[in-house]
Amino acid sequence: MSEVHIINHPLIQHKLSIMRDKNTGSKDFRKLLMEISLLMGYEVTRDLPLEDKEIETPICRMTAKEISGRKLAIVPILRAGLGMVDGLLSLVPVAKVGHIGLYRNEETHKPVVYYCKLPEDIQKRLVIITDPMLATGGSSCDAITMLKERGCDNIRLMCLVAAPEGLAKVQETHPDVDIYVAAVDEHLNENAYIVPGLGDAGDRIFGTK
Ligand code: PRP
Ligand code: URA
Repeated sequence: MSEVHIINHPLIQHKLSIMRDKNTGSKDFRKLLMEISLLMGYEVTRDLPLEDKEIETPICRMTAKEISGRKLAIVPILRAGLGMVDGLLSLVPVAKVGHIGLYRNEETHKPVVYYCKLPEDIQKRLVIITDPMLATGGSSCDAITMLKERGCDNIRLMCLVAAPEGLAKVQETHPDVDIYVAAVDEHLNENAYIVPGLGDAGDRIFGTK
């Protein structure tokens, strides 16, 4: 069974509360999401393996550390996942970025794929999928499946707010994928929106409603 990491650092909780407030506008919402992503990125990358590297400081030679092994890819689920990319890129500027386009059908709440563009060597990379909202879990599950179909076997899912239903679905469908979230909310409403949640993340990021 995969692990669910709830990253409840006070700074993250404070910023998330401002994001949840319906009076917070797109400019602040985007900035806060970027800041939280950076803070969460610290935890998502906490166990990256290190290796020794010989370097020379202005004083002497030394054995220093550098990140070893697989390189990183960040894969946002469009649109809302885009809001979490810059925070991660500011931590790992050399990461490649792929994109998976999915939207939820408003009646069935099932995800529909409309775009997929990934780095050529994606299967060799540690992939961090980003999407602020894990509601029914359909979008995240489909994105993970698409990556696995392309050979990825080291995938992490980073979300801001999750519903218990979505967490359970991802854990059941993809028990090898660890999930990182800032908050687990109460439940889904009749429109499959997270309660209390923060509304439609894509619309709030891009000001489309
Ligand atoms: C939202 C959100 C997730 C999905 C979560 O995207 O960003 O991708 O819904 O719901 P699920 O867990 O039930 O699949 P949406 O379909 O609204 O698209 P958008 O980001 O383009 O607005
Ligand atoms: N997508 C969102 O943007 N918000 C929700 O609460 C559920 C799905």
